Amino acid sequence: MLLKTVRLQLRFLVPLMVTLVVAAYLAVPVMDQVTLRWFSRDLNSRGLLVANALSDSVGEAMATRGTSRLRPLFDRAVQDERLFAIGLCSTDEKLLERTESFPKTLTCTSAADLARKAETQLPLAGGTVHVGVHDVMGQPPLRAPGAVLINPAPEVIPEDAVAAIHAAASDAQAAAAPVLMGRLVLLHDMSFIERRSQDTRRYLIGLIAALGLVIALITMVVAQLSWRGWVNGVRAIMRGEGLLSPLMPAPELEPFAADLRARLRDMEDEFRRSQGPETEWTAERLKTLLQTQLSGDQVIVVSNREPYIHERGADGIVVKRPASGLVTAVEPVMRACSGTWVAHGSGSADRDVVDSSDRVLVPPGQKDYWLRRVWLTPEEEQGYYYGFANEGMWPLCHVAHVRPVFRESDWEAYRAVNQRFADAVVAEARGEDPVVLVQDYHFALLPAMIREKLPQATILTFWHIPWPNPESFGICPWRREILQGMLGSTILGFHTRYHCKNFIETVDRYLEARIEHEHSTIAFHEKETLVESYPISIEWPGVAEVSSWAPVAVCRQRAVERLGLPTDACIAVGVDRFDYTKGILERLNAVERMLEKWPAWVGRFVFIQVAAPTRSALDEYRSFQERVERVTERINLRYGRPGYQPVHLLAQHHEHGAVMELFRAADVCVVTSLHDGMNLVCKEFVAARDDLQGVLILSRFAGAARELSEALIVNPYHVEETADALNRAATMPAAEQRERMASLRSTVREFSVFRWAGRMLADAGRWRLRSRIEARVRRHQTGP
Ligand code: G6P
Repeated sequence: MLLKTVRLQLRFLVPLMVTLVVAAYLAVPVMDQVTLRWFSRDLNSRGLLVANALSDSVGEAMATRGTSRLRPLFDRAVQDERLFAIGLCSTDEKLLERTESFPKTLTCTSAADLARKAETQLPLAGGTVHVGVHDVMGQPPLRAPGAVLINPAPEVIPEDAVAAIHAAASDAQAAAAPVLMGRLVLLHDMSFIERRSQDTRRYLIGLIAALGLVIALITMVVAQLSWRGWVNGVRAIMRGEGLLSPLMPAPELEPFAADLRARLRDMEDEFRRSQGPETEWTAERLKTLLQTQLSGDQVIVVSNREPYIHERGADGIVVKRPASGLVTAVEPVMRACSGTWVAHGSGSADRDVVDSSDRVLVPPGQKDYWLRRVWLTPEEEQGYYYGFANEGMWPLCHVAHVRPVFRESDWEAYRAVNQRFADAVVAEARGEDPVVLVQDYHFALLPAMIREKLPQATILTFWHIPWPNPESFGICPWRREILQGMLGSTILGFHTRYHCKNFIETVDRYLEARIEHEHSTIAFHEKETLVESYPISIEWPGVAEVSSWAPVAVCRQRAVERLGLPTDACIAVGVDRFDYTKGILERLNAVERMLEKWPAWVGRFVFIQVAAPTRSALDEYRSFQERVERVTERINLRYGRPGYQPVHLLAQHHEHGAVMELFRAADVCVVTSLHDGMNLVCKEFVAARDDLQGVLILSRFAGAARELSEALIVNPYHVEETADALNRAATMPAAEQRERMASLRSTVREFSVFRWAGRMLADAGRWRLRSRIEARVRRHQTGP
């Protein structure tokens, strides 16, 4: 800042100094002339005085024609240091008498001519002299006037004599009736003038320089003070104390100060956003963490849904990506960590592509990690997946007003399949302490089963769905077994602190366990489990993916053409699995209410719902899908017209690229889950909108609402509130959209899925280290 101030001051000081130098350059010659004129006037007066003093003697001498007597008088007079020579001229211009120093070249006529000029200077070899001619008045001589000649003897003029001489001439005349007797020519030494003007010049230049310095100093002080004053002023504004508060309390400046404050904050925010997080979590950083904190140990992921499904189609085998938030999140982590992913092989061509150990390298073409498939019989799938997991645990945990169904046979299948997967994990483990990442409610029993076979394993279980309160969970007949199974984990993760708290309270209610609330740990059967929240996320799209996206206008045009939408339509989208927990019916009701409340939207507002079929073998899902179709039809009948259909229900699976295109085409994205662990759809919408436009409407019952507070947060059960939010989103100014979207994007970018996995793995690393130290301490205590 000091450098800046100095630079600022120099910008002012340099021209100032240049001006002063030019002023000095112009002022010195003018000053010389003025001084010369003053001194010439002074010399004339002196000459007059001398002439007057000599006039009596000169007059007398001339009257008696004895001018030679004047010589000693003249010699005495020229002893004055400023009087250089004297000459006496007759009235007819003859030189009658002169001192030694009187120049031979100077005649009475030329002296008289010179004296008439404005500048009576005569340059001589030794310097310049001032010539003065003064009349000598006196009594007329008894005889004809004669001249007293002063013998010129210029050679006696000292070469080094100071330059100026003053010549004066006086006529000498008799006193009685004064008549012009002659003229005294006085030559005055002018060297003292030169000396004095040199002195004056020096003083003047010194004065100008001193003046310049003083001005420069004052400028610097003033600039410094005003800069500080300005900075302090801005700081005061930033502190909210007012612009000039110490000097003048000016309330009328407060709006200006508030504007300035707001603008500065905006700039700071934009700067921070553009900088991104200080230490971003990336795939690379995750890899490094695995190598350093987990000594590069093997990572095994277990989930029910596989990341790549091989299906047999008319044109051969095709690979599909499932609609699963779990897969969306875990797959990039697996690509970064390599290792093995154990999952149910559910595709019709899955068996055709695996090796003899039921393994296949994925992703197709990249081969980053192994996918180990576990085969289930239809009965196993029915009991474990459809039955216990999706008719029992799923509604139990979501509290979405669908009754959970618990059948003994399903439980048996669930237990048996969990054991099958535990065996597969043990078979895949290359050492005794792999890092095993168990995913979701399909595998509540798996952690304890793996622990039994691999006691040294680090088991991280992540529960992707909500955890209910103890009362709700209490309706599960096998609640104790489920809790015990989960407590086989080293770390048990949920999306939110709220779900952690529910779990700990549930354990407290149904098991004899030691709970340490301060550390969030549960000790059961001498085994400790850390219960922690790790909000899951998506992989932030990289440059390659972003550059593959079509521009927003193109995406919009494609959607308009594909669905036959009005070109100026406000487009809202919802992208979900066709699941009753997603609040699809509630958002359709809100769309209907919006059109009812603001009829101007009819013909101009379109809602597109992508609903990927899911668990369709279950009655609950089938009847839900039918209800959604009925409500869609009802709305379209009520508000549709030729060329306009308010709701477009696309009940089929859309690949990632198609979903991104739809997000980029939309003005509004609607996520109205009735209960959701996190919900990644809303984060994908945010990631897709690099144009900073688009509004997110988000259910307060989705875990994501805790992070994405710049969305329009709604209670999906409140139709009126959701309809209002739809209208507000559809009419939101672009600037507000930009503001909200920029903030949402910086959150999602910073809290990426690599951070989710990284935090869990880092905690696991610390845990392992602590266990090793404890084991060593125990060995020391018990001795060899
Ligand atoms: C939720 C669950 C996941 C599951 C996904 C899709 O996100 O948490 O475990 O994979 O739904 O459901 P599905 O039954 O088709 O795997």
